Amino acid sequence: MAIANKGVLVRAAAKARRGAIAPFSKFRVGAALLAGTGEIIAGANVESASYGLTCCAERVALFKALTSGKKNFVALAVVARAPGGAMPCGACRQLLAEFAPKALVWVADSQALKTIREFSVSELLPAAFVEIPGMSRRGQDLGS
Ligand code: THU
Repeated sequence: MAIANKGVLVRAAAKARRGAIAPFSKFRVGAALLAGTGEIIAGANVESASYGLTCCAERVALFKALTSGKKNFVALAVVARAPGGAMPCGACRQLLAEFAPKALVWVADSQALKTIREFSVSELLPAAFVEIPGMSRRGQDLGS
């Protein structure tokens, strides 16, 4: 993937971040997924008064993409205002390992969008549990 496209996806995540609903932490995060088709699906974190129900930007983008039929994810950009950017949490890493195992993860600070750190999903969650032994995702072609 060309460097320019990396910037495009990071900027899409930065734009999506404006939609964050983060009245409690005030920590706004944007995420943008690049599907194999070239489509970009973005989302932002949504917080609940029942704190544990909060959903990270990465999962909002991923669920939006999956439930609109997207698959074969190539990359995920995550943007937040933090030095070096914010790393995906453990829950998001699990879902990325299941639904976007080949995606590159690009992380950037909203105040330094050109400084992009890159990770693979397997580096973020090695030896992931992605399938119940003996059970396949029958009939679910997720393209991974
Ligand atoms: N958050 C994300 O959306 N993504 C991350 O990678 C880290 C954390 C959100 C969840 C919560 O709304 C806020 O940031 C503070 O944890």
